[in-house]
This record gives sequence, structure tokens and C-alpha cells, in this order.
Amino acid sequence: MSFFKDIKGQFHNKSIGQLVANFRTEYISNGIDEKNMGDDPIIQFEKWFNDAVKSKIPEPNIMHLSTVSSDCKPSGRVLLLKGFDENGFVFYTNYDSRKGNDLGKNKNAAMTFLWFELYRQVRIEGTVEKISPEESDKYFHSRPRGSQISAVASSQSSIIENRDVLEKKVKELEKEYQNKPVPRPENWGGYCLSPFSIEFWQGRASRLHDRIIYKLQSNNIWKKERLAP
Ligand SMILES: Cc1cc2nc3c(=O)[nH]c(=O)nc-3n(C[C@H](O)[C@H](O)[C@H](O)COP(=O)(O)O)c2cc1C
Repeated sequence: MSFFKDIKGQFHNKSIGQLVANFRTEYISNGIDEKNMGDDPIIQFEKWFNDAVKSKIPEPNIMHLSTVSSDCKPSGRVLLLKGFDENGFVFYTNYDSRKGNDLGKNKNAAMTFLWFELYRQVRIEGTVEKISPEESDKYFHSRPRGSQISAVASSQSSIIENRDVLEKKVKELEKEYQNKPVPRPENWGGYCLSPFSIEFWQGRASRLHDRIIYKLQSNNIWKKERLAP
């Protein structure tokens, strides 16, 4: 490990790995009062998503998706949320990817949004189903042509020899589909996560944060509770 050089060019006799514990920000906010949080967490999510958009947070639809394999090994990756409504939260990917394989065997998944500029996090847990092929087609064909070709060219998560293999495949596909629509690969499409738990986290001073969790009960009504930070 090398010694860390700071932005003033000064050397420290520690590595960045040793200095990382010194990073510290106070999360100053007005906090959240459960009385001001609606009864429906998806409407509450919509309000917070709008706040993120109004705050000009770049790519506010970035989220982290966690899945669990058939042998109980968790994994996570960053994805883009592509829609949400009362039915759930939609994202698109390759159904034969690592996450696709996990979801094929275990429908449980978790999404985490971080809107750091607002000191906010939202954690969503639920079960995932594929959306209809028609909906996937509609979204696929709304994407830029280059992204459509890349989706066809890439067997996501499989090992490839080098980048050239991928670029060669793209060139071949560009030729094959010249002046023709690119068909959506059957193994590429959307999933919808139907939530059974949604937690809103608001950072506050001295790490005494606010956490409000909504859990879906058997009568289909959301129950709202406060969690210790
Ligand atoms: C900002 C960002 C957005 C991404 N959006 C997507 C996405 O919407 N769909 C997707 O399949 N992969 C997306 N990725 C790539 C994934 O993080 C991941 O590399 C890929 O889906 C393969 O994951 P897997 O091997 O666990 O299946 C994105 C990555 C980043 C950093």
C-alpha cells in the first residue's frame, strides 16, 4: 500500500485504506416525522423520488439490486429503475445473467436507493416476476439502437475471451440488421419487484437518524413503524 497524497500534495505516512475511517460528514436535515409520512409507501416513494429529481441529483433512478443464489449466496449490483407504480418497481436486464439466474430460482430481491445529496436512503424488499413480453418489447424498442444491438451482442455475465469478440459481434449485428428493426432477444426483458417492505431513512445529526418502515400485512394494508437508527 502506498502513502496517501492529499489534494494539497502533502504526503501522509498512512495509506488511503488506513485513512478511510477519518472521512466523516454530519448529515444535517430536518428529519422525518411519521405523522407526515403517508399511509401508502409507494406514494411516499413518489414524493421522495420527486424531491431527488427537483434536487437535480444525477441519475436519481440508480439503485442497488440484491439477489440470492440457489445456494444462499447474496450478490449485489447497480441498475437503473425504469418505472414504478402501485404494482411495483421495474428494471430491465438479461434473464440469463447472474442476477437473472438467481431470480429464476429465488424470487426474493431487495432494491436500495441512495440520494446522498438529501441524506436519504430507501430500502425496498419484495418478490420479482418477469413483466409481459409486450411490455419488454415496448421498452426495448424505445432504447437507442446502439443499446439494442449491445443487448443482443452481450451474453451478460458470461466469460468472454476479450473485448474484440464483443465489438466484432456488434459489427456483424449492425450489418445483419441494417435498415431493419433489431428484435428483442428472448432472454432480455423486464422484471417487476412487488414490495412487501419499504423503509425510508433520513440522515440526521450525530448519527441519530430517522427510519420509518412500512410492512405489507396479510390484509393487504401497510403498517408503518419507526425503527431505531
Ligand atoms: C449506473 C449503472 C447502471 C446500470 N444499469 C443497468 C441496468 O439497468 N440493467 C443491467 O442489466 N445492468 C445495469 N448495469 C450493470 C450492472 O451493474 C451489472 O454489471 C450487470 O447487470 C451484470 O450483473 P450480474 O452479473 O450480477 O447479473 C448498470 C451499472 C451501473 C454502474
